[in-house]
Amino acid sequence: PRVTIVGAGRVGSTLAQRIAEKNLADVVLLDIVEGMPQGLALDLLEARGLELHNRQISGTNNYADTANSTIVVITAGFPRKPGMSRDDLLKINAKIVVEAAKNAIAHSPHAIFIVVTNPLDVMTYLTWQTTGLPRNQVMGMAGVLDSARFETFIALELGVLPADVKAMVLGSHGDLMVPLARYATVNGIPITELLDAATIENLVARTRNGGAEIVELMHTGGAFFAPASATSLMVESILLNQSRLLPVAAYLQGEYGLNEVVIGVPCRLGCGGVENILELTLNDEEKAALQTSANSVRQNIQRAQE
Ligand code: NAI
Repeated sequence: PRVTIVGAGRVGSTLAQRIAEKNLADVVLLDIVEGMPQGLALDLLEARGLELHNRQISGTNNYADTANSTIVVITAGFPRKPGMSRDDLLKINAKIVVEAAKNAIAHSPHAIFIVVTNPLDVMTYLTWQTTGLPRNQVMGMAGVLDSARFETFIALELGVLPADVKAMVLGSHGDLMVPLARYATVNGIPITELLDAATIENLVARTRNGGAEIVELMHTGGAFFAPASATSLMVESILLNQSRLLPVAAYLQGEYGLNEVVIGVPCRLGCGGVENILELTLNDEEKAALQTSANSVRQNIQRAQE
């Protein structure tokens, strides 16, 4: 299989490394900056013999070289600067993502698209709209990352192994995300048994602010290691047809009482893309939070198209 990554920036290039070194697929890195994706690809190729894999990695500025990709990942666009919200990136990234989606689908009409560019849910919607693909073939990465952040903060608080913590974050990728604290466990034990309500609330707040915390520390750009890991997990579940149940930004048609909006929900990911969407039983508070989250995505979809 072949995976094209549009945008060979920090997330895109790190993702290329993960995909090749996990031996998942050949990788095409595409960027508008001339020479840069070619240079990165050569650098990754020179590591091949050391990392012991045999995947092809190429860099290009031309969409013709991405033909017949199984998966197209869109990471092209601008990241946040300190003080910016993801929504501040709306107009500028909308233009970039629509152009990327249009060019990529022309050469890979059967591809599955994974969007990473922010504001995530809106960019995923625009990609679905632009490609005209069935909804199961277009999705956004956010929930896997937000959940990993929540799990990290729980593990740090309790002093347990991060792999033993399981949690899911639904909703939009932003301040209105919906971390499901009551479903979070340490090897099956609910965290509500292990931590008091105020501590859990602090961990939820840190999760909501997880991206901004890193932007503030780094000044230039945002997180990219964990985002690349989260995206590569989704790529893996699709390419290996693992049917993992992950929080994924998907286009909803009635699920959770929501329509014509993209938002993070639990999805089974396999070779067809989103195989199905799981409708969890949410309490009133969680339902309201998901609704608020969806309303804000809807408003931004409108704004992006004005
Ligand atoms: P970056 O600035 O390192 O890379 C972006 C790349 O896109 C640059 O190399 C740039 O030349 C390229 N680019 C710009 N316009 C293009 C076009 N028209 N066609 C092809 N390439 C183009 O940024 P970084 O850190 O890699 O972040 C990329 C995006 O991913 C940002 O929007 C960021 O906010 C988002 N992001 C989303 C996450 C999520 O959870 N969904 C997590 C982390 C980042």
